[in-house]
Amino acid sequence: SRAWRGLIEEYRDRLPVSTTTPVVTLFEGGTPLVPARRVSQLTGCEVHLKVEGLNPTGSFKDRGMTVAISKALEEGAKAVICASTGNTSASAAAYAVRAGLTCAVLVPRGKIAMGKLAQALVHGARLLQVEGSFDDCLEMTRKLAENYPIALVNSVNPHRLQGQKTAAFEIVDQLGDAPDVHCIPVGNAGNISAYWMGYKEYAEEGIATKRPRMLGFQASGAAPLVSGAPVTHPHTIATAIRIGNPASWRLAEAARDESGGAIQAVTDRQIAAAYKLLAQEEGVFVELASAASVAGLLQAHGQGMLVPGQRVVCTVTGNGLKDPDWAISGAPTPVTIPVDAFAAASALELA
Ligand code: F0G
Repeated sequence: SRAWRGLIEEYRDRLPVSTTTPVVTLFEGGTPLVPARRVSQLTGCEVHLKVEGLNPTGSFKDRGMTVAISKALEEGAKAVICASTGNTSASAAAYAVRAGLTCAVLVPRGKIAMGKLAQALVHGARLLQVEGSFDDCLEMTRKLAENYPIALVNSVNPHRLQGQKTAAFEIVDQLGDAPDVHCIPVGNAGNISAYWMGYKEYAEEGIATKRPRMLGFQASGAAPLVSGAPVTHPHTIATAIRIGNPASWRLAEAARDESGGAIQAVTDRQIAAAYKLLAQEEGVFVELASAASVAGLLQAHGQGMLVPGQRVVCTVTGNGLKDPDWAISGAPTPVTIPVDAFAAASALELA
């Protein structure tokens, strides 16, 4: 086996690049598909986790960003802009550095996890905290990109979804076929749309014999695709998917309907429980929004939506280290001891 070359080189013939496109890469993609023993036990299915938190900036956004930033550079952009709940801004900031572009990001003030804020700042992005929601930020960035020489790298930029579809390719390449069911968190609804594009493309060419049912999961306080109407004041502990008016609304509905799937809501309580289960029973540390896919799978199982033995992939979209505040708030307070092995033994109840 040879070293992974980043997803543009690995899937070059399936992406909108030519020999003259400057490839801006941090060697994203090639993420592990980890068997989930406990979740498999609980559901009677063969469940795998696509661990996207192992991308260079800690989320799946890097897949879209390598293509979007490469194309922006090819097209002569000097600056890029995005709205973000955190991960897109972290990714855009890093890839912009790589490309020598300036990067501006608009985030909802007080509603993004600390690790993500740190990433955007450390990579030197111009970060504006907006006194509004993600949806407000996205509307603003669209206006800015229309009126000023600055390229939009949110998932309304079609190059983003092209990059993100490669996650579906990797899953099929690894499993030898598409899974029966694919579970995924849904926020701005770009990623579910991208996976569906990838699965369709492989099935159309006979690389996969089937296409999975797409099961998308939104947080119940931010579930416009479930209610069918935009949510003016979305709320959830999963700040990454705190979105009331998803940009890829129609594409996500098409993915749901064409695949015979569903988009459902899961409560914050279910998300927090799945987060804990992944950390404590699978050894996989994800961020809250990512746990929505597993929370949703458990819910679908409870509703009798799964056939025993089916092969299921859950995308876990971002790394748990993104949000240390949440991780620590739910953990026990560490015990402090003197420099004394016996004190350690007694604290550990070894003696
Ligand atoms: N999971 C994580 C960790 C995310 O950061 C996002 C989106 C999603 C799931 C949902 O994906 O929007 O394609 O439906 N984060 C965006 C951001 C909105 O700005 O980082 P989606």
